Amino acid sequence: MPAARIAVPVELVGHRYDVLVGAGLLSEVGAKLRPLTRSAKAAVVTNTTLERLHLPALVASLRSAGFEPVVAAIPDGEQHKHLGTLASIYDTLLGARVERATPVIALGGGVVGDIAGFVAATVLRGVPFVQVPTSLLAMVDASVGGKTGVDHAMGKNLIGAFHQPIAVFADTALLKTLPPPQLREGLAEVIKHQVIRDAAGFAELEANVGRALAVDVDYLTQLVAHNVAIKAAVVMADPFERGERAHLNFGHTFGHAIEKVANFTMPHGECVALGMCAAVHAAVAIGLFAEADAARAKALIAKAGLPTGGLTVDVDAVIDAMHSDKKVAAGKVRFILPDRIGHVVIRDDVPPAVVRAAVESLR
Ligand SMILES: NC(=O)c1ccc[n+]([C@@H]2O[C@H](COP(=O)([O-])OP(=O)(O)OC[C@H]3O[C@@H](n4cnc5c(N)ncnc54)[C@H](O)[C@@H]3O)[C@@H](O)[C@H]2O)c1
Ligand SMILES: [Zn+2]
Repeated sequence: MPAARIAVPVELVGHRYDVLVGAGLLSEVGAKLRPLTRSAKAAVVTNTTLERLHLPALVASLRSAGFEPVVAAIPDGEQHKHLGTLASIYDTLLGARVERATPVIALGGGVVGDIAGFVAATVLRGVPFVQVPTSLLAMVDASVGGKTGVDHAMGKNLIGAFHQPIAVFADTALLKTLPPPQLREGLAEVIKHQVIRDAAGFAELEANVGRALAVDVDYLTQLVAHNVAIKAAVVMADPFERGERAHLNFGHTFGHAIEKVANFTMPHGECVALGMCAAVHAAVAIGLFAEADAARAKALIAKAGLPTGGLTVDVDAVIDAMHSDKKVAAGKVRFILPDRIGHVVIRDDVPPAVVRAAVESLR
């Protein structure tokens, strides 16, 4: 029996593509891409970790479909997500004479995806972009929305462009080599999706999160497809980020502030986990959310191996950082708070004492 393949359609700004999810897709990328382009070449952007682990299978797949692969491998790590790294990729691609029809394929996590997407948006004024996300976070979060870019000394993701992929291939078997801490970080965004949109999915995850942690690939295929569909529905309902897309910031208002105060030494997923705990604390404090549901949310976060406390950074600094966030409108911090599991509301009237107590609850 062939392995299960799930196609999740995404349609944004008049552009339609599928996120294909399934174990073993990596070896099918070449054949599935062949009808989408006339290019003889295919450019692959990856990092040195994925180059060693999974590039050979991708290159073989591209070759057997008649593509001539051009590979740019960059060093591993967010610290390389900057303009200097881009320059080296342009050198490789232009040196190999890529053409307007040459697809740029991202093989990697969110860092490689963001960099490769920006390269695809800009080289020769834009070429087709293909994502082969290899981390859980890149599969469930970065595969929808079309955001690409790099960091600047002034802050994260400050230089970039929107560039939608023509196809996304999420091979869940690749998650077998993903380090466990990175898998857990992806689960933070998964839990976020369940809390904001899907009570049934939340209950299902409560029962099965152990299967995700054990890298049960069949289970992960269902989980990834389900979460891509949730993110796609939110983004498609609000393509210009005017309203409900802000729901995806659940846990991120507190989380980004913690991340910033910790000088980006704490993993994003852990900051989001703490941020979700602070948000449910605040939601209970203003009488919006039931205490028992807050306990369920925190228990699921803990079950996923993510932190629910132990914050060591300064509380005042976290509160200050929330006020200086780029998303603050007219001095009011907007919080995304659940009023029940599977549903959130936007509130800009949370009393300062409640915000403070929420951050203090993370100690
Ligand atoms: N474009 C978007 O919409 C979007 C959304 C969310 C996050 N992001 C960006 O994504 C980045 C974070 O992504 P991430 O968490 O995937 O980090 P990452 O890309 O740094 O990957 C985490 C680590 O796991 C390794 N790795 C990835 N897949 C692997 C695999 N299958 N086997 C072994 N090792 C593997 C990577 O080499 C890296 O060391 C941030 O820069 C963030 O800004 C973008
Ligand atoms: Zn996030």
